[in-house]
Amino acid sequence: MTFRRGRLTLAVMLLGTVLTVVPGRVATAAALPYQDPSLPVATRVSDLLSRMTLDDKVGQMTQADRAAIVPVSDIATYRLGSVLSGGGSAPSPNTATSWADMYDNFQRQAQSTPLAIPMIYGIDAVHGHNNVVGATIFPHNIGLGASRDADLVRRIGQATAEEVAGTGIDWTFAPCLCVARNDRWGRTYESFGEDPSLVSPMTSIITGLQGSGILATAKHYIGDGGTTNGVDQGNTQISEAELRAIHLPPFQAAVQRGVGSVMISYSSWNGARLHGHRALITDLLKGELGFTGFVVSDWAGIDQLDGATGFTGAEITTAVNAGIDMVMVPNNYRQFITLVKQEVQAGRISMARVDDANRRILTKKFEYGLFERPLTDRSLTGTVGSAAHRAIAREAVRKSQVLLKNDGNVLPLAKTGGKIFVAGKSADNIGNQSGGWTISWQGSSGNITPGTTILQGIRDTVGSGTQVTYEAGGNGIDSTFRAAIAVVGETPYAEGQGDRTGSMGLDSTDLATLQRLQASGVPVIVVLVSGRPMDIASQLGNWRALVAAWLPGTEGRGVADVLFGDYAPTGKLPMTWMNSVSQQPINAGDGKTGLFPQGFGLTYSGPSPSPSPSPSPSPSPSPSPSPSPSPSPSPSPSPSPSPSPTTGCSVAYRLNSWGTGFTADVTITNRSSAAITGWTLRWTFPGNQQVTNAWNATITQSGQQVTAVNVDHNRTIAVSGTANFGFQGTYSGTNTTPPSFTLNGTNCAIV
Ligand code: GLC
Repeated sequence: MTFRRGRLTLAVMLLGTVLTVVPGRVATAAALPYQDPSLPVATRVSDLLSRMTLDDKVGQMTQADRAAIVPVSDIATYRLGSVLSGGGSAPSPNTATSWADMYDNFQRQAQSTPLAIPMIYGIDAVHGHNNVVGATIFPHNIGLGASRDADLVRRIGQATAEEVAGTGIDWTFAPCLCVARNDRWGRTYESFGEDPSLVSPMTSIITGLQGSGILATAKHYIGDGGTTNGVDQGNTQISEAELRAIHLPPFQAAVQRGVGSVMISYSSWNGARLHGHRALITDLLKGELGFTGFVVSDWAGIDQLDGATGFTGAEITTAVNAGIDMVMVPNNYRQFITLVKQEVQAGRISMARVDDANRRILTKKFEYGLFERPLTDRSLTGTVGSAAHRAIAREAVRKSQVLLKNDGNVLPLAKTGGKIFVAGKSADNIGNQSGGWTISWQGSSGNITPGTTILQGIRDTVGSGTQVTYEAGGNGIDSTFRAAIAVVGETPYAEGQGDRTGSMGLDSTDLATLQRLQASGVPVIVVLVSGRPMDIASQLGNWRALVAAWLPGTEGRGVADVLFGDYAPTGKLPMTWMNSVSQQPINAGDGKTGLFPQGFGLTYSGPSPSPSPSPSPSPSPSPSPSPSPSPSPSPSPSPSPSPSPTTGCSVAYRLNSWGTGFTADVTITNRSSAAITGWTLRWTFPGNQQVTNAWNATITQSGQQVTAVNVDHNRTIAVSGTANFGFQGTYSGTNTTPPSFTLNGTNCAIV
């Protein structure tokens, strides 16, 4: 069932014919076969192709930015098949209605051509309809990856599709299925995670988008997140086996879900630009994976093929013959069309290739109903920024929060009583909490679009008896406050502008703010608003709690939901968190030990928030439950380690206990002479320990018997290799290391 421009299209296949029921309208006979919605799409495509001139066909392969199309009648003159809004390319005023009017104006130009082939309009709706003021802005993908909630992501796709359709637009250049392997990359926040097993399930957003009538794009094919040193548009220098193991699975998942388009990456693979890579585009994507949609270039992506500015006929031929079906020119479309025709007439681009590209593009235009009702469905325009969509966004914000430290269960904070100090440059800043790709391409700080800041969310959450004081720099805090919440991190950026070649720590503004707060002796709770893990290990010891909020978007109340216990945090790290920037790249399974492992995330195991505690003169140096680099309390006494074993396995069990809670970090070492593929570790708790949540393993418990089973990425333990996982739990009385562990039934030494 597809909602398209207000028309519910129920396509019922009867003996190979399609009966389209349009409420209020009887299907009428169309003038020509391609105009007859009762015919199979393939029949309509073939009929239309047979009527098209070379100009028509080359026009379908041409995509231009809205701002470059002057006069607008060029859409008709040059038969342009597609228009886009690059980041921030918006009509004025920037309102949903204004977007819809603009779309319809462009579409009417396309309808004025002899064959009236509708244009298809593409935009980067990558975390909501983020170019449109007033739209719902959802958390960026890194936060959605932390949620581990594929169905939530599908619902976000549905909501985004309604808002996009409400402005007339048909196609979003989303999702990014990049597997970010180096956090220096400026597009890390566009990735659902560092491991394909985290990214592939999130292709559910494609189902949400396309199920609601908006064409999705799997991007950027392939290896954009794997470049050396995380350089945007750089060179991914890995073997084919690694490319297939790490970067291909999400695209396989997207193709299996029927994604309608794929965008090519600017990056190179072992020195060969993807925009000219026939083996990867035609042979692998279209051949081996069976992708039947169409392939679009990135913005001026073909210009980079010869290393000089602008594009040439040779570059066009290389790209089109590699398998690119539509070129995001995006400005000099007249010259592009002239050159394509020259290349075709010279026989360097075959008509078969031109027809294949057109067949792919037209198939999607027919499937998405653009021929029958090409104009905006105005009944959807009101969904832009709707309360229902914002509620989904708030749910996503809650579920994306990752609790990394919680000394003495300082969180959740009590809602009532006392005074709370809020500071930080991102506490009252919709622009910062939304990040790049928001209203403008790069995003920007400030009050850029309607939403709820994190500060406002805090104010809306606490009881009337609680005084909330806000001063961005922390000036004015003293020991009479019961807690200080510092919302710090990164300011917005997009693409290469976000690459970090040097330090990845907090800026001087944030450090000064934190210093002021810490000097007061008030417990400091840090909320990190950033597009990636940051280098914060050296400051962590001064913080009582740390929440990774990522880039939450317009619904900042979702952060407060976690801080004050209306939602116990469930988020888990989608990326390994570095101990130091020198560790980049750092990923699960690479043998490096970060500050927090991928999959790490604490929750609330203590009692519900106590009444407002009296302000403590200084943070009690209670043991930190997180594996912090500062001298952490010595792990609870464990049986004296046996001599390092020469056979079987060994287990290192590192405890951090506090109050009634604890975390355990477990490392299994394969001491046998054969690799282990798939493992189950079992033990018996010596006391009343109860596991509450786990990372990098699936843990079940029955009484004191505990079973931990590998996840995808750590299922194999090479000879002398290790597998790491962890869990959090509660206990009372003493908390000691279990006396024995068995791995796949074999006793392990405890080290
Ligand atoms: C940008 C990005 C791509 C985006 C396109 C259109 O350069 O690389 O993700 O979809 O251009 O804005």
